[in-house]
Amino acid sequence: MYNLAILVSGNGTNLQYIIDKIDTGDIKAKIEIVISDKSSAYAIERAKKNGIKTLILDKKNLKNNLSDEILKNVKNCNLIVLAGFLSILKGEIVELFKNRIINIHPSLIPSFCGKGMYGIKVHEAAINRGVKVSGCTVHIVDKGTDTGTILKQKIVTVNKNDTPESLAEKIHILEHKALEEVINEYISGKIDPEILKR
Ligand code: GAR
Repeated sequence: MYNLAILVSGNGTNLQYIIDKIDTGDIKAKIEIVISDKSSAYAIERAKKNGIKTLILDKKNLKNNLSDEILKNVKNCNLIVLAGFLSILKGEIVELFKNRIINIHPSLIPSFCGKGMYGIKVHEAAINRGVKVSGCTVHIVDKGTDTGTILKQKIVTVNKNDTPESLAEKIHILEHKALEEVINEYISGKIDPEILKR
């Protein structure tokens, strides 16, 4: 079985979509564990409701040890998926899981990404800049912040009436699909081998 670890910090709609797609057989994997860096993350409730093992590793308490604690709990996972996870992974986990950690980001990287750019802030920045298109990016997690190899991007048109909230809503739908596609590409060995050699 292909084992996933899903890392979350918030509402968990991306997590829910993956759970649902596993249920329907569209993603042939098992979620081994859902880890949150925030005790209040609703994503944890979603996981529990579905009988999935959960773990809260509070970033406020763990500070610089967060990544190492995560590593201890994901050792038998094939792929780590950051699905609305707002801490930066550091140290050994990034090396040991090289090319096997992916993140979903709600903009077209390299626009509106990097430190401090997450969630609704990304959409506020995009609207303020007056972009005509935005979207989402699934990328490999490396030592930097949103700097790893881009695996997939999906695009939406930004209309003049869009607000950060309406844009977030449109992009969320694309995020779910992009994550599903990339996870399935990993499972079926379809990720470009040249990318995985890097
Ligand atoms: C998503 O929009 C995701 O792209 C974003 O957080 C949201 C989580 O939604 N991630 C980042 O901004 C990472 N830099 P969810 O909890 O409903 O899946």
